[in-house]
Amino acid sequence: MATTTPRTRTSQTATPGAAQPAPASRAPAVIQLRNVVKTYEGGDVGLNGATLSIPRGEFVFVVGHSGSGKSTIMRLLLKEIEPTSGSIQVAGRELTEMPPKKVPYYRRNVGVVFQDYKLLPTRTVYDNVAYALQVTGHSRKDIRAKVPDILRLTGLATKLHNFPDQLSGGEQQRVSVARAFVNHPPLLLADEPTGNLDPETSIGIMQLLYRINRTGTTVVVATHDLHMVERMKRRVIELHKGVIVSDRPAGLQQPQTTDELGAMLRGDGTHGQSLNDEWASETEGLWR
Ligand SMILES: Nc1ncnc2c1ncn2[C@@H]1O[C@H](COP(=O)(O)OP(=O)(O)OP(=O)(O)O)[C@@H](O)[C@H]1O
Ligand SMILES: [Mg+2]
Repeated sequence: MATTTPRTRTSQTATPGAAQPAPASRAPAVIQLRNVVKTYEGGDVGLNGATLSIPRGEFVFVVGHSGSGKSTIMRLLLKEIEPTSGSIQVAGRELTEMPPKKVPYYRRNVGVVFQDYKLLPTRTVYDNVAYALQVTGHSRKDIRAKVPDILRLTGLATKLHNFPDQLSGGEQQRVSVARAFVNHPPLLLADEPTGNLDPETSIGIMQLLYRINRTGTTVVVATHDLHMVERMKRRVIELHKGVIVSDRPAGLQQPQTTDELGAMLRGDGTHGQSLNDEWASETEGLWR
């Protein structure tokens, strides 16, 4: 007599991509620096024995005076420069042992945002973002689908055909964030992303980075903006002359929405106009 095996429900029934990012403390490290020293030619110290671990899904600030080593960490993580000694692992791969021909593939997994935007001046907003997909081999169909989505999500839907010099600083930085995130990289590095922006525009950019983080992308932000850092209540790694002098964990107060974050950053309970929750919930599915 034939028997039937009862069918059981398993976790496979979960919707792919619907899970929230794991709590940072339980997630595996996406970035692991061990005793990293970077001495530049001429003897300048970039980093002097830095050891740190950043779990997947975390939002981390790197702070410190000018010359303390913030950009050095970013450039090491991008493999733009090599450490003098020590180990740098990203997603389990040892960067110091990565052969040069693999570096472009590695960099596809790392979105980067700079203080000075680094947009292509002779290309439109649309083309600046499309370019990031072209160079990573996406089809034209894919590009036509993804670019308008990301530009809408970053509040640039009406600026597709503008050139960078026809945009405000905040808009240019939004294009650069759109370009960094259009591939949905697991890691996003931002070096002084609000360095050239006024406080209100900076809040908009920070809300955008926070929203990206909430999709599961690990976000590392180097900044001088201590006012913003204090209010965000995320993890803060502080450098002094290439040495990590403090590493403060995230506070318990976690803003749930970009609106709440905006209110925290302004410190006045107002919600602002830049990225409201209506906007966020409308577009929720696109970020997964
Ligand atoms: N290409 C380089 N050649 C030589 N020395 C360098 C180079 N880049 C950085 N340095 C030195 O390394 C140290 C750390 O520089 P880094 O750019 O990492 O600092 P930073 O914290 O990003 O500063 P800032 O806040 O001004 O951007 C500084 O003393 C700097 O002069
Ligand atoms: Mg710097």
